[in-house]
Amino acid sequence: MIALGCDHAGLDLKKEIIKYLDANDIAYKDFGTNSYDSCDYPVFAKLVANSILNGESQKGILICGTGIGISISANKFKGIRAALCSDTFSAHATREHNDANILAMGARVIGSGLAIDIVKTFLSTPFSNEQKHIARINQIEN
Ligand code: RB5
Repeated sequence: MIALGCDHAGLDLKKEIIKYLDANDIAYKDFGTNSYDSCDYPVFAKLVANSILNGESQKGILICGTGIGISISANKFKGIRAALCSDTFSAHATREHNDANILAMGARVIGSGLAIDIVKTFLSTPFSNEQKHIARINQIEN
């Protein structure tokens, strides 16, 4: 299961991502927002983080205007590694090296075509399981 969340600035991009997930039979749960009314991105970061931490979802995707506020918010939760990505190299590397469990993107920063490529990369790249990366991740969380 993929947990989805966004604020008002990320709603259009989240809709594009949902079209991609639907077309590819990828299961997701949408935690909102589903309105263009101004709202607070930490609310949705928390809902997505909790869905991962309680085992309901394996990964999450968070979108706000820049991707910055919503990724900062998600990274406050122990066990969450949210990576703000605007390119596919970073999406690939953060899965292999950081075992990132949330992809954050900025809807005012990148277009939907690139965002979908980033989502594909993030969801299909496994963690390397290399000992040096495990050791570094453990240092982040302890
Ligand atoms: C909303 O205007 C904007 O501040 C928010 O989407 C995000 O970019 C914050 O980091």
